[in-house]
Amino acid sequence: MKPVILLTGKNGQVGGELLPLLARLGEVVAPGRDQLDLSSPDGVRRTIREVRPQLIVNAAAYTAVDRAETDESLAKAVNAEAPELMAVEAKKIGAALLHNSTTMFSTERKESHTMRRIAQARSTFTGRPNLPVRKRFAPQGRRT
Ligand SMILES: NC(=O)c1ccc[n+]([C@@H]2O[C@H](COP(=O)([O-])OP(=O)(O)OC[C@H]3O[C@@H](n4cnc5c(N)ncnc54)[C@H](OP(=O)(O)O)[C@@H]3O)[C@@H](O)[C@H]2O)c1
Repeated sequence: MKPVILLTGKNGQVGGELLPLLARLGEVVAPGRDQLDLSSPDGVRRTIREVRPQLIVNAAAYTAVDRAETDESLAKAVNAEAPELMAVEAKKIGAALLHNSTTMFSTERKESHTMRRIAQARSTFTGRPNLPVRKRFAPQGRRT
């Protein structure tokens, strides 16, 4: 029997590339933002419990780097809290979680204005300065 794969961010660059590849591996359930808003913890929890995937692939992210500085709570909800909740729920049902993020900027030391802004935004994304999202998975034992 084919594994059930829950993919977020199917309309994004990464999710759009992954969708046809994952479809070769299993039965893909890929809700768009209109069906699953990652800023809603209840929605994340409910979707995972209903779909009961063997694999969750999180390709959704708040990627509006500039706006993240003024929209910190939404960026944090989508990029830090939702993945953390996915890890908790995945653990409960024995699913694997593949979370895609960019950590390269959190240690970026270049002093250009642009790079500083990106580094600040990355810190905002993860909820704490220079804390990669993967550390938030530690209590669930799902470091990647
Ligand atoms: N693109 C790359 O080359 C690359 C390389 C390395 C790492 N990454 C990382 O991969 C992740 C995705 O990047 P990307 O380039 O694919 O970004 P993207 O093209 O901007 O796509 C982001 C996706 O996330 C969805 N999304 C945003 N907020 C959401 C919410 N509240 N609820 C549900 N879905 C939401 C968007 O939905 P809508 O379509 O409705 O807006 C979109 O489908 C990011 O963490 C990025 O840092 C990307």
